[in-house]
Amino acid sequence: MKKLMAANWKMFKTRSEAEETARTLLSKIDGKIPEDREVLVAAPFTSLCAVDSVFGGKPWFHLSGENMYPAEEGAFTGEISPHMLKDCGCGFCLAGHSERRHVMGETSEFVGEKVSFGLKSGLSMILCIGETIEERKAGKVQQVIDEQLEKGLADVPAQILPERIVVAYEPVWAIGTGEVAGPEEIVEAHTFVRKKLEKIFPEKFNEIRVLYGGSVKPGNCAEIITLDNVDGVLVGGASLDGESFSQIVLA
Ligand code: 13P
Repeated sequence: MKKLMAANWKMFKTRSEAEETARTLLSKIDGKIPEDREVLVAAPFTSLCAVDSVFGGKPWFHLSGENMYPAEEGAFTGEISPHMLKDCGCGFCLAGHSERRHVMGETSEFVGEKVSFGLKSGLSMILCIGETIEERKAGKVQQVIDEQLEKGLADVPAQILPERIVVAYEPVWAIGTGEVAGPEEIVEAHTFVRKKLEKIFPEKFNEIRVLYGGSVKPGNCAEIITLDNVDGVLVGGASLDGESFSQIVLA
């Protein structure tokens, strides 16, 4: 199973800035990426085609949407369909990022609709999960992760190809705070995720990638990436700079 080194650019970068960052990243990593790694960039809708034009055709590269609406088309002002993402070169899309859950108020049920519709539409889906600091302090980490996985994967067929589903564990308190989860916290959560995946996908659970996200930086990535059940990283702030993200990709 190849490690997935993923960037999430959130609501940053104009088209030209995105293209420049993509070019810097490509120049730093092309020809150097280990065989067992892949790179993914989730970019704002307006920059997807620009990023695709830089990386398009690289076999180790995946382009991702950051969000989508679970319908093929229709009167959904302001939304984007999986079909439109694919048209811009996307093979993946995020669902349930903590900012969608906590800023935009998306429920786990709605996230589950996105995951199943995205998969049906031919995208691979990255389901993001993670607890808030209040939930952690209340001892509810496993309960929260369990609920988010249960509802997020509720309508995914058991025979789905394992490479089409990625789970990203991103504790909300570690996102953008500089406070990375400790190795024990990461391993504990990822082991729990793996056990839950085993219940849902008894045959292929070991082939589903589970990423860690939350204040990943060039200086801590090498350690995180070797932890048990960590199959890659999902990086926000430190992915905005091509040089910095290249160090993470090659860490
Ligand atoms: P930071 O790497 O900035 O903590 O963000 C993580 C994240 O939200 C990636 O999706």
